[in-house]
Amino acid sequence: MLTLDRRHVTDFLNAETRGALAPRVRDAHRTLLNASGAGGSETVWRTMLLDPNDALLADLAQTAAEIRERADVLLCIGIGGSYLGAQAVIDALTPTLLKPDGPEILFAGHHLSPRYHTELFKYLDGKSVYVNVISKSGSTLEPSLAFRFARQFVEERFDDPGRRIIVTTGPEGGLLNPLRDANGYRKYVIPDGVGGRFSVLTPVGLLPIAAAGIDIRSLFYGAVDLARTLNAPDAEHAALDYAADRYLFHETGYKTELMAVMEPRLKGIGAWWQQLFGESEGKQHRGLFPSVAQYTTDLHSLGQYVQQGQRTLVELFLRVEGTQGPVVSELADNTDQLNYLAGKSYAAINEVAYEATAEAHAEGDVPNWTLTLGHLDAQTIGAVLYFFEHAVSVSGYLLDVNPFNQPGVENYKQKMFSRLGRPD
Ligand code: PA5
Repeated sequence: MLTLDRRHVTDFLNAETRGALAPRVRDAHRTLLNASGAGGSETVWRTMLLDPNDALLADLAQTAAEIRERADVLLCIGIGGSYLGAQAVIDALTPTLLKPDGPEILFAGHHLSPRYHTELFKYLDGKSVYVNVISKSGSTLEPSLAFRFARQFVEERFDDPGRRIIVTTGPEGGLLNPLRDANGYRKYVIPDGVGGRFSVLTPVGLLPIAAAGIDIRSLFYGAVDLARTLNAPDAEHAALDYAADRYLFHETGYKTELMAVMEPRLKGIGAWWQQLFGESEGKQHRGLFPSVAQYTTDLHSLGQYVQQGQRTLVELFLRVEGTQGPVVSELADNTDQLNYLAGKSYAAINEVAYEATAEAHAEGDVPNWTLTLGHLDAQTIGAVLYFFEHAVSVSGYLLDVNPFNQPGVENYKQKMFSRLGRPD
């Protein structure tokens, strides 16, 4: 269950302008449903939820069960949309310190750090390793490079590389398909019409997430439920309110949207959201710059800026209901002067910190929404993923950009490949 609290937003928006926006929001929403707008053919991430492939979910769960039985480590190789979703969901739904049973899920090829990759292969030595290389194009430098080393590592150490290496890529073409065909690696398909940042609910995200022991069926169906709800042309939903509000803030000069997570486990959702909104909206010199903070930690670093820096910020709190955590007891020795908190749980104290911060920031002219997750479970996280995917599509159409391409990502690549001497 998700709820959006707009209490600290409405005072900052002109009610008449906001009301007048409703027909445009409805049009943008319908454009998405009809796949009739810019990049419409790239909206299969939505239609695939309306026609769930249960056989694929079962197949992925079976492969994940094998990995969980046989591997100490699942090494997931990918960058951008090919890893952020998996990492976000795994971080959100697995304990931070008390590691559950099953393989460690590690990532590689998500940057070019020589130190990390040296350390990684030393760490893997002597362990039972499975590799999942995830790249739609198969030609992205960072994962291609890491996969070359990972392949060598697996082939030198194990007599069943065809079983241990799993390729997740486009249906055909690219560079991974021929490599897979030549070596007999297992393969999962990234469907056509699903861009990287919208691919978490395809095998891109689902295999690593299942290997981490998470119930991918609940995750997937959490998204399905919301996709079905929003599939009505006249739907009224918080995802559309959020898209409309942030568009108006953009049009009135706000520059940055800060997602502030009140639960550290949700920081990865912030990183995934950052890519989703940054790549979908940031074009034609438009879009709010998405950034992420973790409260209360970052109230002691960014808090000063948020309260009193440039007034071009909007803020989105992400909070979770549920777990109470330890409860403060009354001590005879009150030298730390915390007896005033006796009887209160960590959750209650965190909640007060959130309420106080949201109010103080609104008073400091930072409009803020709060998205509340009723539970921290797979179904709710599935809904969160779809909430933002739908919202960014609508807000992209309101901004009059194609939310499903990312032409600007190519510029650095061309310069980098030219300097590295790539033949083409
Ligand atoms: O969202 C996107 O499209 C990108 O972030 C890609 O996922 C990323 O660049 C990786 O591309 P590929 O999967 O082709 O290696």
